[in-house]
Amino acid sequence: MNVFTSRILPESGLQLLQAAGLQVTQHTEKREIPQDELIHICRQHDAFISIGHNNINEHFLKECRHLKAISLLSAGYDNVDVDAANRLGIAIGHTPGVLSQATADVAFLLMIAVSRNAFYMNRQITAGNWGFYEPTANLGIELYGKTLGIFGLGRIGIELARKCIAAYKMNIIYHNRSSNLAAEQELGARKVSFDELLQQSDVLSLHANLSPAALGLFNRAAFSQMKPTSIFINTARGRMHNEEDLIEALNQGTIWGAGLDVTNPEPMASDNPLLTMKNVCVLPHIGSATIETRNAMAKIAAENILAAIEGKRMPHAINPEVYLA
Ligand code: DGY
Repeated sequence: MNVFTSRILPESGLQLLQAAGLQVTQHTEKREIPQDELIHICRQHDAFISIGHNNINEHFLKECRHLKAISLLSAGYDNVDVDAANRLGIAIGHTPGVLSQATADVAFLLMIAVSRNAFYMNRQITAGNWGFYEPTANLGIELYGKTLGIFGLGRIGIELARKCIAAYKMNIIYHNRSSNLAAEQELGARKVSFDELLQQSDVLSLHANLSPAALGLFNRAAFSQMKPTSIFINTARGRMHNEEDLIEALNQGTIWGAGLDVTNPEPMASDNPLLTMKNVCVLPHIGSATIETRNAMAKIAAENILAAIEGKRMPHAINPEVYLA
């Protein structure tokens, strides 16, 4: 049996697959693989670990029906046509849970960095503009006792809320389709409507899956409801915010600032205006990028593959409903 990985798989996953006697072919070139080429390669393999943004759509799934196992190396699965996978009865693995702390760390980092314009201040120094000390210059805003609003309170949002409560005694509000009672109990979190989330948050952080309903949801109409002192954080998916509207809101002072670990498109162009704005901090999608987390993700992806190859249920499938059909 052989497995194809569309980028280099972290060591823990590789070892697990090789210890089980599987041959692993890794795509080591730093380029996206066009779908036709990916299908061609997958036809020569028994299993596939999708790393990066491979389009797992109906065409791919139909052309690669021979695959005994497909797993993503991510928790998010917006690159998968889940309905098509369900129709075709194909289970797709992913790697949830293990990246919650690392991703919440990045949201926390961005929140603090934006509140003090930290990335911009650093750029000023490297450009030779340390500046003249004035008590009214370089001022940020404080986070103590403020309200953290979470859009999509799941595992990552809970981790962020824990940090914000411990560090800044922040109040937690959230907007989900259904209530998260465990989080309400642990964090004293309050479920609010989408409009209330926008209006009451001092820091608004996105942690939902990218569903059709969430596409471009954070647009001019949404930003216009937010406080002029508020901070917008997106570590989920770039397509949830409308970039033009975000730039306008930041330029007009509709909101205080933004921290982005995800953009649309990725990579962001180096001349994007967001990169030079004082009140914006951008990172290149590093939410889960720690040695520990990436190894934990690779281990889960490998376990998904091994289970499916043995004809068992994947421990982490995005569509476990196919097992019931
Ligand atoms: C995820 O797992 O969804 C992270 O965003 C990495 O892609």
